Amino acid sequence: MLKLKAGKKSATSLPKLKVPAHVAIIMDGNGRWAKKRHLPRFAGHKRGADVVRDCVEASLDLGIRYLTLYAFSSENWKRSTEEVSDLMSLLRLYLRREIDDLDKNGVYITTIGDRSRLAPDIVELIVQAEKKTQNNKKLQLTLALNYGGQAEIVHAVKQLVRDAKDGKVSDDDINEECVARYLYTNGMPDPDLIIRTSGEKRLSNFLLWQAAYTEFAFLDVLWPDFTKESLIEAVTDFSQRDRRYGAR
Ligand code: FPP
Repeated sequence: MLKLKAGKKSATSLPKLKVPAHVAIIMDGNGRWAKKRHLPRFAGHKRGADVVRDCVEASLDLGIRYLTLYAFSSENWKRSTEEVSDLMSLLRLYLRREIDDLDKNGVYITTIGDRSRLAPDIVELIVQAEKKTQNNKKLQLTLALNYGGQAEIVHAVKQLVRDAKDGKVSDDDINEECVARYLYTNGMPDPDLIIRTSGEKRLSNFLLWQAAYTEFAFLDVLWPDFTKESLIEAVTDFSQRDRRYGAR
């Protein structure tokens, strides 16, 4: 597991830490990190992919049960062909390199989003990774790939209409739980905490439905500089919040 530097806060030195079951992260700031160092954007993404590894380790250490990472949004296709291809290469590399370690550490890996636009070899890597890790219970790592919250809702509505036409659901059955079952996140708890790095304060089409009662942490750190301490900082702040879900 991730080794903490001497003097830094560790999960055990925070006995009353209320750890969120589901943390979702908008990993932002790779480009700015690279620019600050006069490096190509790829260098920021590459470092960002290494930080994904550290973040998974830190989540395991803290006892987080679900970690959802916004790795590629449905809007990210608008980036240059070169950048899209770089991001896909890093994803391939991650899926090839990390699966054995994730599996050994009890991590189940899956994705949310529309797989139909992903390259067939990437889809195959995802299917294999899901199959290999399917019985792992310690942490569910969900990569949001070609994911957009509005597109997810449209996808769910289409399927719901099809099922209604086929007589599988009636309008009386349609409530929040029913709609949630048609989302990519079916079976997962809603995120307790959404973290966005880089100082931007936007949701950017991430988990729109699921974020109804989520707490937010906007960190000033750029994603490639995110550490276990950054995660502890966000979780500590979360611990002190009073969640009322609309009640008094
Ligand atoms: C946002 O930074 C980040 C992304 C669009 C992609 C996130 C991808 C990674 C962390 C690496 C690959 C992921 C995995 C799971 C292996 P930005 O480029 O928008 O940064 P900027 O706003 O500073 O330009």
